[in-house]
Amino acid sequence: MISARGVCVRLGASDILHGVDLTVTDGEVVALLGANGSGKSTLVRSLVGVLPLAAGSVELLGSPLGPSVDWERVGYVPQRVSAQSGVPSTAREVVSSGLLHGRRLRLPRGWRTRTDEALELVGLRDRAQDSTSELSGGQQQRVLIARALVRRPDVMILDEPVAGVDQPSQEAFAATMRRLVSQGLTVLVVLHELGELAPLVTRAVVLRHGQVVHDGAPPAASPGTTTRRTSTSTPTTTTRATTRAPPSTSPTPG
Ligand SMILES: Nc1ncnc2c1ncn2[C@@H]1O[C@H](COP(=O)(O)OP(=O)(O)OP(=O)(O)O)[C@@H](O)[C@H]1O
Ligand SMILES: [Mg+2]
Repeated sequence: MISARGVCVRLGASDILHGVDLTVTDGEVVALLGANGSGKSTLVRSLVGVLPLAAGSVELLGSPLGPSVDWERVGYVPQRVSAQSGVPSTAREVVSSGLLHGRRLRLPRGWRTRTDEALELVGLRDRAQDSTSELSGGQQQRVLIARALVRRPDVMILDEPVAGVDQPSQEAFAATMRRLVSQGLTVLVVLHELGELAPLVTRAVVLRHGQVVHDGAPPAASPGTTTRRTSTSTPTTTTRATTRAPPSTSPTPG
């Protein structure tokens, strides 16, 4: 799905990424972690072709970065920028722009239904007509997530999608991602801590000073450092039992 080999990126006079290798295969949920300034945003921006590579190569969906990539199948959520642009747009306008790309400059039939479905997924269906300037920072971030989801992508690349988002919205976002991943979505997500997404994450890649220093099992959440939890500390096997019983009670492990 995503394959980066020896990626080097230079910004201004500084080398930011030094030979980064990263592979994300079908159905994986990979967390990209690292301290502020370690190069996480630089890496994901180079993966989606926003920043030029000084060296190395990237393939997305089996095609080298460029016009041959099937961009319609790629959803990208940039790290939130606090500055407001001059012209206010409604949430629906921003989300529908996710249906446009280089080869499609007009909205497809059914755009409005698809746009409103994407807003529904992030819990903002009732704010469709509101200007994004009237939304909170966390709600604006959810609009960007909806803009990526409206394409019904096969792979999503998200840069700190839950930074500055309140706990209920984080839980809602995690629930949406859980559903999409169970339907086959592949995800690369930049995070500061695994948080609500921890149960979904299959692998973690850690950057330090523009290099990969870990690629493997996600870090275990250290007690006391993450958000306080109430009754969710039970093992996943028992929480599963609270959902509806499956039609067959075969003891075969899944
Ligand atoms: N346009 C630019 N010109 C020069 N240096 C830049 C530019 N943009 C970013 N940098 C530098 O590149 C390095 C990596 O930045 P990047 O935004 O990729 O880090 P990050 O891991 O995403 O950090 P954060 O967790 O704060 O989002 C930083 O040292 C930053 O100062
Ligand atoms: Mg960043």
